[in-house]
Amino acid sequence: MSPTLVSEHLNNIAVGYVDSVDSEYAKRLAKKWHLNYLGHVVAASKQPQLEFVLQMHHHALELCKLDEPKLGAIKVDFVEGAVAHRRKFGGGRGQDIAKAVGLKHGFTPHVLDATAGLGRDAFVLAGLGCKLTLLERMPVVAALLDDGIERAKLHHEVADIANNMQLFHGTSLDEVDLDLAPDVVYLDPMYPHREKSAAVKKEMRIFQSLVGEDLDADDLLAPALALATYRVVVKRPSYAPPLANKKPSMSINMKKNRFDVYVKLAIPKA
Ligand SMILES: C[S@@+](CC[C@H](N)C(=O)[O-])C[C@H]1O[C@@H](n2cnc3c(N)ncnc32)[C@H](O)[C@@H]1O
Repeated sequence: MSPTLVSEHLNNIAVGYVDSVDSEYAKRLAKKWHLNYLGHVVAASKQPQLEFVLQMHHHALELCKLDEPKLGAIKVDFVEGAVAHRRKFGGGRGQDIAKAVGLKHGFTPHVLDATAGLGRDAFVLAGLGCKLTLLERMPVVAALLDDGIERAKLHHEVADIANNMQLFHGTSLDEVDLDLAPDVVYLDPMYPHREKSAAVKKEMRIFQSLVGEDLDADDLLAPALALATYRVVVKRPSYAPPLANKKPSMSINMKKNRFDVYVKLAIPKA
């Protein structure tokens, strides 16, 4: 993964390991992502300022919230679980996200996912054949995603999909010279959740408490529109106003979310 554009030192997070066989790898990860190195995870109890531990466990990178151990750990897993289920049974090119990015007339766009997060939406699109460039600004999230992509590259069922995903760690569309002309820019910034926290899935609660809200999300729309050749797609909760209060060309409504689509150019016919 390259390049590393942000150098931050977060004091409430450290990288550690569960099994000593992973200790050297965990040390290298801490260096790569400019995070503090903890050593064995049991050492976390001696560091009260720590809120999160990014731990190597069974050769995968996981994020734990120390004051809420019942929430468990989150990792990026493209091989098993919900993401794998969606790959097999999610509806292929007929699903809403595919329609939103313009997978039609045999057209398979190059998509820049500029708010990559844990890469679930990007993986769906890469699984449908799209070339994916991913941008994530938070080093901890980028580290989790990078680890998930690299593990997926080693698994025969999903290696081809993971090889279609290139992750960049960067702060914004303006600053990063991606040297690319994406057909579509996809945005899914964090938006305050309405549900009471108990109703939000455990995994989502850890993620939300780490990332918070993307208060500058409105600033993403103009550079996204400048960069995309055909369209910009924004995922929003159903109750949220459009990004930057800009009316989309069309919306695709789902149960809890919708895709706002800003069309620049019609999708070409093959
Ligand atoms: C809701 S999550 C995206 C979830 C993702 N669509 C998925 O399927 O896993 C939003 C992510 O965008 C990132 N983000 C927000 N604004 C960004 C920006 N300007 N540049 C890069 N990443 C950004 C946040 O750090 C967060 O990880």
